[in-house]
Amino acid sequence: MRHDENLTAERPTFVTHLECAYTGERYPADEVHNLSRAGKPLLVRYDLSGVKNVLSKDTLAQRPTDLWRYRELLPVRRASDIVSLGEAVTPLIRLPNLAEKLGGGELIVKDEGRLPTGSFKARGLVMAVSMGKALGIKHMAMPTNGNAGAALAAYASSAGIKATIFCPEDTPEVNVSEIALQGASVYRVNGLIDDCGKIVAEGKAKVGWFDVSTLKEPYRIEGKKTMGLELAEQLGWDVPDVILYPTGGGTGLIGMWKAFAELEAIGFIGKKRPRMVAVQAAGCAPMVRAYEEGVEHAARWENAHTIASGIRVPQAVGDFLILRAVRESGGFAIAVTDQAITAALDEAAREEGFLMCPEGAATYAAYKQALADGRIRRDERAVLFNCATGLKYPLPPARKTLDRHKPIDFAAL
Ligand SMILES: Cc1ncc(COP(=O)(O)O)c(C=O)c1O
Repeated sequence: MRHDENLTAERPTFVTHLECAYTGERYPADEVHNLSRAGKPLLVRYDLSGVKNVLSKDTLAQRPTDLWRYRELLPVRRASDIVSLGEAVTPLIRLPNLAEKLGGGELIVKDEGRLPTGSFKARGLVMAVSMGKALGIKHMAMPTNGNAGAALAAYASSAGIKATIFCPEDTPEVNVSEIALQGASVYRVNGLIDDCGKIVAEGKAKVGWFDVSTLKEPYRIEGKKTMGLELAEQLGWDVPDVILYPTGGGTGLIGMWKAFAELEAIGFIGKKRPRMVAVQAAGCAPMVRAYEEGVEHAARWENAHTIASGIRVPQAVGDFLILRAVRESGGFAIAVTDQAITAALDEAAREEGFLMCPEGAATYAAYKQALADGRIRRDERAVLFNCATGLKYPLPPARKTLDRHKPIDFAAL
């Protein structure tokens, strides 16, 4: 087996068409698309019986362990269009100390911080940029809370595509620097991510750049879908009881829900589904509010604020898809305070040696809350998503010093 076989071998592809996620209207594959005519996300559809005929669990097991092992369930047709920076399968890490302390069931983190550019945004953007390359797109633009912009910058540079990126004024410095260093033009904007999105839409109308905003193009979701494919394969073609996902635009949650349906259609998993839990910050919880009100669409959250910048998304175009997955799965939406996020981050780092990002820590805070109020049972296997490396975020200073010229009290160290 060649280490880069998934990237170089030609393999059959099965995309049949795209479909409006709201109206079901069909759109042709292999053409440039943004939203459907109804202004809703487009989903990629496959000939799944064709996939079932050519792909077996054994075939998959022999392939290199990267995201491209699932090529038959992905939209890129030609190997030469794949733009890869090494999208390794991310590990499942158990948190036995915390599970024991809480008296809960098995507690597992899928650690997405191992991906190129240090976050799961690599999954979506590697797919969007590879498809952009296949479709001849020359200039991409996007609004970002940081991590998505970094991934777009990296993959666009690798593909020779120009990238212009807009982020909220207070986006962490490291994100803005990495975007610039990785060859994109990046601007801080005095507003939130949806204000940045308006600039991208205006530029699309005026200069024709391609809008890569969350769910406004069809392929990021296909990349994010691989989180669900990997997770099921890593658990021996099983799914956990509960998935807690830090939800902003919701691409990952929607993508995983789609992945499980496709895996069932090709006979890799059965009917069992995890309960999907959308975790948001108390200072920006439009999905939680909509879930609790029982409505299909989520109104914009005014004055959004949270330290978990990745989930500071006041309004999401895929709101109905997030809510649908949460409800169909028997899951729920839950908000956690910044204080609870900080405490969860500290606890996981101190007691498990696992440095989560604030968004990942939000899922652990939510797990604790839901375990305490009975919404997650003590015998359930739960998977948390740590969507980025904790090292991308400002860390509190460690201030202890030692004067090497003075006697050292070793017993006190
Ligand atoms: C670290 C992190 N977690 C979670 C999210 C939310 O992701 P999604 O858009 O899939 O809801 C983001 C998005 O920026 C992020 O950067």
